[in-house]
Amino acid sequence: MTQARFRGAIAGWPVGHSLSPVVNAWWRRKHGVAGSYEHMPCEGGEAEFRQLVERLKAEEFTGINVTIPHKENAFKVADTVSDRAKALGVANTLVFYDGKVHADNTDEEGFYASVMAVRPERKSRALVLGAGGAAPAVLMALHRAGFENIDISNRTRQKAEGLKSRFECLSEIVDWSKFADNLSAYDLVVNTTSLGMHGQPPLEVDLSAAPDHMIVADIIYTPLETPLLAQARARGLKTFNGLAMLANQAVPGFEHWTGIRPAVTPDLMEHLEDRL
Ligand code: ATR
Repeated sequence: MTQARFRGAIAGWPVGHSLSPVVNAWWRRKHGVAGSYEHMPCEGGEAEFRQLVERLKAEEFTGINVTIPHKENAFKVADTVSDRAKALGVANTLVFYDGKVHADNTDEEGFYASVMAVRPERKSRALVLGAGGAAPAVLMALHRAGFENIDISNRTRQKAEGLKSRFECLSEIVDWSKFADNLSAYDLVVNTTSLGMHGQPPLEVDLSAAPDHMIVADIIYTPLETPLLAQARARGLKTFNGLAMLANQAVPGFEHWTGIRPAVTPDLMEHLEDRL
């Protein structure tokens, strides 16, 4: 939906570190879209999030991105929901129209674009590490990208079992204590846990037995190179971090709000790296 003056925000808590305003400003400048996009801290639960949405609607915001801890709330407050948001049960993009709220989830598209950009040679087997909030979008993206078998491993096995019962595309649950023993079976391994993020311990894994064609991915972008990715790069493996996912998940939101489908270009990626 195109409006004369765009007004957007990223709502979450904490949200001050988010790069979404930088991405949005870059595309607005590039496409000559007047308007604003701000950080919108929202502490609290569903009630506080609903209040915020009502206020932003009244203030004629075009739409918002939504991050932790409100992705479930964003899904709940919507009048209409995209199929892909329904599949995940959470939303990260809201569009305000005619006094109503439409919810979408663009995280799967963000990871899908990142995977496709590295052109995987083989797609027989992938391993997803972690079964938290980010895992469902990643495993759906791997499925759409054509990976035939998608295994999952999580410290708390029960959470991996929960995902297996929801997502048919999952093949095996691998014990957290054992995933490192069988890395040679994988064409791609992706870390969706918080291990390796600034302030967190690294993900301890020895990649010496990894096949030469294996792609190692991390959805973290602070730091840009986690210890896992540094090890993979030293070993000569293809890697990618979470920055491309961040940029690519913003594409459909900008399109919903302005009618313009923006591009994730190398100069945008450099600009984002400079801001970290
Ligand atoms: P979010 O919603 O932010 O993704 P989350 O749902 O708590 O947060 O997910 C964090 C992920 O990192 C989970 O897979 C978590 O494993 P558990 O389900 O066992 O908690 C994983 N994780 C966090 N710290 C970890 C650690 N020290 N060792 C192994 N996995 C860890």
